[in-house]
Amino acid sequence: MTQQLRVYVPPHPLIKHWLAVARDAATPSVLFRSAITELGRWLTYEAAREWLPTKDATIQTPLDTCPGTVIDAEVPVAVVPILRAGLGLLEGAQTLLPLASIYHLGLQRNEQTLQPSCYLNSMPEKFDPQTRVLITDPMLATGGSIMAAMSELVQRGVEPSLIRIVCVVACPPALQQLNVAYPGLIVYTATIDETLNDQGFIVPGLGDAGDRIFGT
Ligand code: PRP
Repeated sequence: MTQQLRVYVPPHPLIKHWLAVARDAATPSVLFRSAITELGRWLTYEAAREWLPTKDATIQTPLDTCPGTVIDAEVPVAVVPILRAGLGLLEGAQTLLPLASIYHLGLQRNEQTLQPSCYLNSMPEKFDPQTRVLITDPMLATGGSIMAAMSELVQRGVEPSLIRIVCVVACPPALQQLNVAYPGLIVYTATIDETLNDQGFIVPGLGDAGDRIFGT
């Protein structure tokens, strides 16, 4: 069977609510930041299924022993926020993944060419091939930024099927590119918006997430 990119849009009331708040042009920066944090939390919760490493354990209760399942802290877990906007989602993700290492990736999309350029990369030269990686970026538009992030990870030894992408609004051009290059990959998003305008902005989208998070 040929593998295909899997894109999950969890039908959860909290995800729908915070997406609506984030989309609203009248939402001030402080509330927009909260909305993105909440989306990071709930989408990471969904993404952690069958991704976060666990191991069997025997638990001693006050009365008896019983089998249990605990997080396997020996398997490395990493979060890669794509700066700047991915930092907003990181805040929520980190509350669920307190032991994860955070590797910042600074990408700036050129407003004319729409090509991303990298200004910061704190990743190690090589990752343990077992490493579970969560990439956070609220918007997948043309796909240039997410493809650049994927390439940085894969060339450092990360297995694409161990990567989860958490975003808020995903657009078909980005999803199509990911599907061709990384068919085993899984994306968690609050919504899929069909339209990308001439300036590379997602419509209806939520505006410029980086500017709205940081009030610039
Ligand atoms: C935005 C967004 C994504 C990227 C998506 O970041 O947060 O990273 O553009 O566009 P693409 O799919 O066409 O590459 P931007 O470059 O505006 O930087 P910022 O997060 O610092 O605002």
